[in-house]
Amino acid sequence: MDLWACPAVVTGAASGLGAETARYLAEAGAKVTVIDIDGDGVQKIAEEIGGLAIPCDVADSRSAENAVAMARAAHGAARVLVHCVGRGHSEPIISGDGPMPLDDFRQLVEVNLISTFNMMRLAAADMAQLPPLANGERGVILSTASVSAYEGQSGEAAYAASKGGVVSMILPAARELGALGIRVVGIAPGLFGTQTLFNMEKNLDSRLARQIPFPHRFGDAAEFAMLVLHVLKNIMLNGTVLRLDGGYHR
Ligand SMILES: NC(=O)c1ccc[n+]([C@@H]2O[C@H](COP(=O)([O-])OP(=O)(O)OC[C@H]3O[C@@H](n4cnc5c(N)ncnc54)[C@H](O)[C@@H]3O)[C@@H](O)[C@H]2O)c1
Repeated sequence: MDLWACPAVVTGAASGLGAETARYLAEAGAKVTVIDIDGDGVQKIAEEIGGLAIPCDVADSRSAENAVAMARAAHGAARVLVHCVGRGHSEPIISGDGPMPLDDFRQLVEVNLISTFNMMRLAAADMAQLPPLANGERGVILSTASVSAYEGQSGEAAYAASKGGVVSMILPAARELGALGIRVVGIAPGLFGTQTLFNMEKNLDSRLARQIPFPHRFGDAAEFAMLVLHVLKNIMLNGTVLRLDGGYHR
């Protein structure tokens, strides 16, 4: 897809992988709407890239519907959605305090899984109304999973389950939306040096990075953003989840 003047929505864009993706998309000439629950953070990014900031809880249907409508009114219906919202969480199923509160599990599923489907359904509905481009493509929906979807650590049952749901929806969504020329792709990051990682790995140190076959360091958000741009441009990428992890298997 040609990104020049292309309306694009990035969620989770106040920090980390989403913020860097928004910068790369703006650099490529896209008209970028940045969405995040952190209103101040997302406003700063919008000012930096000349985009539109919308504070929003994307797990909430009404808020997300309003946000997508505001983005559409400003830039036209988006041909690109990059959904980067997510929250890392590590908590044992049982501890000295008893069983993990069910609400902790529910909240993680809300933020990581329900928000993914919520944004996917709204973006797809808008894309379906757009005329196809010369190659038949109407849009691309890119969601963020995690290597924990495949190899969750002890203490990550809830996080892994929420990301496993993201992985599982990519292929059926691509099969359904392919009829409309809409591609659906996931990226499963390994260890990237952002707030999500720091929330999960309380004792973050270089030993963890040494477990990455190569390079022996945490990923940089720019490396994630570069893959996003490649996915958007390469029409053969569809219905799959790409690991971006330096060969890291937990
Ligand atoms: N950093 C890593 O190592 C890593 C590894 C695997 C997967 N991921 C995934 O990558 C994605 C991006 O994470 P990141 O590392 O950039 O983390 P981050 O914490 O820097 O960014 C996440 C953003 O999501 C926003 N957010 C949270 N809940 C929201 C909600 N309900 N509505 C709107 N915005 C909300 C936060 O305010 C934050 O700006 C997440 O889905 C995360 O699970 C990250």
